[in-house]
Amino acid sequence: MAQTFGSLLALLLISYLSITMATAAYNVVDFGAKPDGRTDAAKAFLAAWAAACGSNQPATIIVPSGGFLVSQALFSGPCSNTGMRMFIKGTLMAPAGYSDSTQWITIKYVEGLSIYGGRLDGRGQAFWACKNARRSCPYGATSLTIGQSKNLLLSGIRLVNSELFHMSIFASSGITLQGATITAPDDSPNTDGIHIQMSSFVTITGSTMRTGDDCISMGPGSTDVWIENIKCGPGHGISVGSLGGEAQEAGVQNITVRAVEFTGTQNGLRIKTWAKPSNGFVKGVTFEHAVMKNVQNPIVVDQNYCPGTVNCPGPSSGIKISQVKFNDVHGTSATQVAVKLDCSPSNPCTGIELQDIKLTYQNERSLSYCKNVKGTASGVMIPSSCL
Ligand SMILES: *[C@@H]1O[C@H](CO)[C@@H](O)[C@H](O)[C@H]1NC(C)=O
Repeated sequence: MAQTFGSLLALLLISYLSITMATAAYNVVDFGAKPDGRTDAAKAFLAAWAAACGSNQPATIIVPSGGFLVSQALFSGPCSNTGMRMFIKGTLMAPAGYSDSTQWITIKYVEGLSIYGGRLDGRGQAFWACKNARRSCPYGATSLTIGQSKNLLLSGIRLVNSELFHMSIFASSGITLQGATITAPDDSPNTDGIHIQMSSFVTITGSTMRTGDDCISMGPGSTDVWIENIKCGPGHGISVGSLGGEAQEAGVQNITVRAVEFTGTQNGLRIKTWAKPSNGFVKGVTFEHAVMKNVQNPIVVDQNYCPGTVNCPGPSSGIKISQVKFNDVHGTSATQVAVKLDCSPSNPCTGIELQDIKLTYQNERSLSYCKNVKGTASGVMIPSSCL
C-alpha cells in the first residue's frame, strides 16, 4: 500500500513537472521559424521571446538544430521573470550582405537569463570585402550586444565571422561567459572577440578566440572583470583600452587576467591609451600565468596609442595607470623588445610590478623598455628589468 502510494506520488510529480515544463517552454519552430537558412525567422524568434519574457514563471526558449536566418533581433526586457533559459542547438545566420545597422542580435534590459549553446554566424565576408576595397561602407554590425542587463550566463556559445566586434557588453553587470568559441580570419578588419565597457562583474572563462583584432578589450568603466583560462590567437591580444579618447571618462579597476595562452598574436597583455587629456584611470590590474608563443609585443603599456600613426594627438595622456602586476609570464617574443612600458610624461605609471618574467627572443637577448614608469621587479627577469 505504502509502495503504491509512493508510485502514485511519483507519477503525480512527473506529470506536474511535464505540464509546467510544457507550458513554460517555447520552441521557435512553433512560432513559425524554419530551419532552412533562407526564410527570415526574426519574427518567430521575437514572438517566442515575447511569450517567454511575458511569462510570470521561469520560461524556456528552444531553438532546435538547423540554420535560422535572422535579419535582426532585439530581445528586450524587462521581463516578468528572472529565470529564463534559452537552449540553442542550431545556428543563427545573419543576412549574407550588409546593412546600415550596427547591431545584429541584441539583449537589452534583461535580468536573469541563461543561454546554452548556440552558434551565431555574422557572415561578415561581404562587409570585410567592402572595407578592404576602401569603398565607403556602413559602420558594420556587432554580432551580439548585451546592454543594460544583469546576471546573464552564456555557456558554450560559438560566434563566427562577425562584421565588426563579435560581442559587446555595455552598461551591464554579472555577465558570465563560459566555454565560448570565437572565430574569424586573422586578416578580417576590427573583428574583436569581446569588448567590455561601463560594466562590472564580467567573468570570461574557458574560451578560445581567433580573430582579426583584440581577443578581449576592456574600455572605459570596466570594473571587477575576471578572465581566466583563455586561448587567444591569432589576434591582437587582451587589452585594457583603448582609453583616454574622451576628456571625461570612467576608470578601469580591479581586472584579473590569468592562465592565458597567446599564439602568434600581435600583442599579449596590453594597456593602451591615447596621448590626450583625460580624467580616466587604470587601477588594480593583475596579469598572471600567461604563456606567449611567438608574440610580437608580449607585455606592453602604450600611452601613445595611435594606430596608423596619422593625426596622432599629443603631447601626453591624462590616464593615470597604477597598481599593475605582471606575474609568471613566459614564452617567446617575436620581436626583440619583449617588455615595453611606455607611460605618460604628465602621469607616470606607478606601482608596476614585474615578477617571474621569462620571455626569450630567438637566439638573441630580449630587451625591455621603460619610460616614465615606477615599480619593482622580482624573481626571474628575462629580459632584465628596466624598472
Ligand atoms: C574584484 O573583482 C572580482 C570579480 O572579478 C571580485 O570577486 C572581487 O570581489 C573584486 N574585488 C574588490 C576589492 O571589489
